[in-house]
Amino acid sequence: MDARLKPGYHFAPVKNWLNDPNGMIHWRGSYHLFYQYGPFTPLGGAKHWGHAVSRDLAHWEHRPIALSPTPGGPDKDGVWSGCAINDDGQPMLAYTGVFPQVQCLAVGDETLDHWTKYDANPVIAGPPDGLAVTCFRDPCVWHEADGWYMALGSGFEGGLGAVLLYRSSDLLNWEYLHPLCKGELEETGRIWECPNFFALDGQHVLIISPIPQRRALYLSGVYEDHRFVAARWGEVDPGGALYAPQYMVDALGRRLLIGWLWEERTQEAQVAAGWAGVMSLPRVLSLDADGALCSAPAPELDALRMAQLCHVSMALNDEARVLQIGGDQIEIHARFRLHGAQQVGIEVLRSPDGAEVTRVVYDVAQQRLLCDRTRASLNADTVRDVRSEALALGPDGLLDLRVYVDRSVVESFANGRIALTSRAYPERGDSVGLAVFASGGPAELTDLAVWRMGSCFA
Ligand code: FRU
Repeated sequence: MDARLKPGYHFAPVKNWLNDPNGMIHWRGSYHLFYQYGPFTPLGGAKHWGHAVSRDLAHWEHRPIALSPTPGGPDKDGVWSGCAINDDGQPMLAYTGVFPQVQCLAVGDETLDHWTKYDANPVIAGPPDGLAVTCFRDPCVWHEADGWYMALGSGFEGGLGAVLLYRSSDLLNWEYLHPLCKGELEETGRIWECPNFFALDGQHVLIISPIPQRRALYLSGVYEDHRFVAARWGEVDPGGALYAPQYMVDALGRRLLIGWLWEERTQEAQVAAGWAGVMSLPRVLSLDADGALCSAPAPELDALRMAQLCHVSMALNDEARVLQIGGDQIEIHARFRLHGAQQVGIEVLRSPDGAEVTRVVYDVAQQRLLCDRTRASLNADTVRDVRSEALALGPDGLLDLRVYVDRSVVESFANGRIALTSRAYPERGDSVGLAVFASGGPAELTDLAVWRMGSCFA
């Protein structure tokens, strides 16, 4: 196995394949993360549910595989994505068995280590009669005053994406109601995978992972009469790497989100590395007054900081400064005040000659944060593009930027609002340098702190 580019403080199994987070639940004071796991190959294969637990949301402990395909069962070809349910103290998992796509349940013990599949699986044996759908999977279950509700990812034959809504009084017998939400625009996709539906800051949010866009989207709006009407939509994290995120509520009432960061290099490279796929850092979600979804890194991540490598301030006058420190497992917290600069930012994973560099840039004219990977790797078989997200600065001209660099992950957050996560695969061992810059005018770096980060495995 080649672990050179494997992240050290982003959760991943020891080897082989990971995709969607599943069954995320805050249970008896610990955070549980299940995930789509291919234990035998870094290319995927039949999906199992891996399992990990964390007491502090920063450090994770691997637990045994929670669910495996049962030969001859409705999940014989894979235990696909789903959610965890707290049924009055009884832990349950709802998931999709394939093929065909059907919905199943499993009952857990107190530790969430041992799961027994329900004898009468599947509990939903297929789409409603007469409804021609292109996908029927990834249950998201919640409780309301009059019973249990399940949202299923779907899409109409020849049409657009949709989420189907079911109701049950006992989690075993489910009645189809109607679509919770139907896509109205080609841009929001033809097939909606991995729905997440929850209340947030006075509105409701539906997160979906649409095909063919393959970028996680959110819709925010109003939930009434068991129908969701979206008022706006946007991307959860337009950095190009994050897909199929899942949320959970914790004891503090926070909505925490973790997404799958897929690889942006070839399958041959995945096989050679022996691993593929990692989780994003956990983010805390909020909605602003306009219904835009905001993401900020969970404060608990500070527990991963080891040595502080620098803490300085400096004026930048249309220049770049290469710092004497660096690393490929670091956190950078930079506060810029723009005084006429047209761009400011940070260069990470930089080789001494600048031949390899990933640039996190704020562009004043565009009012966007960019992750520029055009020179991220000398290897042409990796994605080398520019990804960006809109971010208007306040009248104070302050940019509060946090960049988490973890080998092949560059995960940025700005002003407590936006997240931009990309993969970068430098070829050179010395591509660990760090620089800060302003161009087109002066800027002040009022505060620059950098930490070496420890492992997320205790
Ligand atoms: C999303 C997804 C889900 C499915 C799972 C299978 O990435 O396609 O819709 O349940 O992955 O691993």
